[in-house]
Amino acid sequence: MMNNTLEGKVAIVIGASKGIGKGIAEAISELHPKGLVLASRTQQDLDQVVSYIKKKYHTEALAIATDVTVPSQIDNLFAQTEKAYGKIDIVIHSGGLIQKDNEPLDTITDERILAINLTNLVSVEYVGKRALQRFRRQNSGIYLVISSEAGQKVYDNYEVYLGTKAGDNHVIRGLNETFKKDEISAYAFAVGPGLVDTPGAREAFPTVPESTWKKSQPIDMAREHIIPALTNPEEYKESFSSVNIVKTVNVEDTE
Ligand SMILES: NC(=O)c1ccc[n+]([C@@H]2O[C@H](COP(=O)([O-])OP(=O)(O)OC[C@H]3O[C@@H](n4cnc5c(N)ncnc54)[C@H](OP(=O)(O)O)[C@@H]3O)[C@@H](O)[C@H]2O)c1
Repeated sequence: MMNNTLEGKVAIVIGASKGIGKGIAEAISELHPKGLVLASRTQQDLDQVVSYIKKKYHTEALAIATDVTVPSQIDNLFAQTEKAYGKIDIVIHSGGLIQKDNEPLDTITDERILAINLTNLVSVEYVGKRALQRFRRQNSGIYLVISSEAGQKVYDNYEVYLGTKAGDNHVIRGLNETFKKDEISAYAFAVGPGLVDTPGAREAFPTVPESTWKKSQPIDMAREHIIPALTNPEEYKESFSSVNIVKTVNVEDTE
């Protein structure tokens, strides 16, 4: 029988102050885990999401400001979570930077190239390293990274972002091989949506019409495509594999 609860589980959601991460935090809250820790760089935004979640879902939640491009801050996030709730069962990484329509490779700044790589790819490895250490010790755990349709499909003028997302997918494949070889009962997933209505996507793609955004809300995406990976990871892996490109709307739909 399919499980539809996260009772007793402790989850961290990175990138939870906005967009897809916020939608995932809400969808997790509906299932009343033991503890939910929300992370992003901006404490004030996180505090607002925590208040909203506590009021609406009566779910226990904490906000810990974290820049995932800084390893010591990820150490702090994991340590504070264990201090508050005793363990970490689920780590979701939805912190990311989207390359914009007006940032083709020939004019994007070198600083932006580095920031997109650090946030979208290097930090997925920093967080994965710390998740693996815990999962190995407890012989359980789920690490789920929000990748992108762009990890598989190719779009022009989007090279930096494409590279980070294809990289994420391969990191996740590698992590699953490690779990298998070392007989660790844990799961790693890369879930790659098309367009989802978020502040980051709206800023990156200002010409997408309102009617398209309306069709692709973060909480719906989270309920449909993320929660099943957390509640029934074995079935999810069998059905979709560890790298799952999910159909939302995409840029071609808007043309
Ligand atoms: N929306 C889409 O259409 C779409 C489609 C496919 C894939 N994705 C992927 O989904 C993920 C989330 O994107 P989104 O659309 O939800 O973007 P968003 O609206 O810009 O939200 C991004 C989130 O990441 C956090 N963040 C950014 N840099 C961070 C850092 N260094 N450390 C910790 N948190 C950080 C932001 O909070 P702070 O600024 O407070 O840190 C925010 O909470 C990204 O990886 C993106 O590539 C999005």
